[in-house]
Amino acid sequence: MDDVLLRTHDVTKKFGLLTAIDDVTLSVPAGKITSIIGPNGAGKTTLFNLFTGKFKPTSGRIEFRGERIDGQDPHEIVRKGIIRSFQITNFFDDLSTLENVRLATQMRHTGFGISDFLRHHESLDEPLTTARQVLERVQLADVADRRASDLSYGQRRHLEIGIALAAAPDLLLMDEPTAGMGPEETNETVDLIEDIATDTTLVLIEHDMNIVMNISDHIAVMNEGTLLSKGSPEEIRNDERVQRAYLGGE
Ligand SMILES: Nc1ncnc2c1ncn2[C@@H]1O[C@H](COP(=O)(O)OP(=O)(O)O)[C@@H](O)[C@H]1O
Ligand SMILES: [Mg+2]
Repeated sequence: MDDVLLRTHDVTKKFGLLTAIDDVTLSVPAGKITSIIGPNGAGKTTLFNLFTGKFKPTSGRIEFRGERIDGQDPHEIVRKGIIRSFQITNFFDDLSTLENVRLATQMRHTGFGISDFLRHHESLDEPLTTARQVLERVQLADVADRRASDLSYGQRRHLEIGIALAAAPDLLLMDEPTAGMGPEETNETVDLIEDIATDTTLVLIEHDMNIVMNISDHIAVMNEGTLLSKGSPEEIRNDERVQRAYLGGE
């Protein structure tokens, strides 16, 4: 049995009349890559928004390390170590790559509040060292002093990942990290994801089935808000319901 880091239990999320998440029970094992797949509108991003506390479940519960976190504020959840790498850019264009990551090293203490950071930081030496290590890891060390706005698309995506890593996540949520990338950038990002997975539990939303099948330990398949199937890549590949609903008989 795997150690479970995050677990949802009968989670439902309604937006008015729409049931975006319908009675979903799933677990995220520690130290693994779990991918969430499913067609557009299946509820994947909504699940992330429930994990991070942006949304509260209409019913059901969410546990992190066995402790209930549904109903907690996003900043409390960040402090516990659940960090999301944003699909929509979430950094300061006018600051350098290094400064962006340095600010983010404080995220977990402050719950991401930049004004909190500006109030609370005492010494910037330690964040600076951490920030340089993170830049090394996300392959941006050579553009540390470049303005974030001057980075290439792929570099900006890596900066987003770096900002998330700077918060020392225990659980890192990545929503379509390779979206919009060409083959070369995609390969680099997949390498980076596999590197991160050596010391961080990952949940990945990813459309590219080759990537999903190659790097996932576990896959959860969402369809119209419900959990259609879960299992190893092999199990998902051979699941007829999944093939019918999603893979188009691939
Ligand atoms: N904040 C929101 N308010 C209303 N409806 C939402 C909101 N967020 C998502 N939805 C709806 O919930 C459903 C699932 O959306 P989403 O989780 O973004 O799907 P996915 O990420 O799988 O493409 C969609 O029908 C979407 O329109
Ligand atoms: Mg989405």
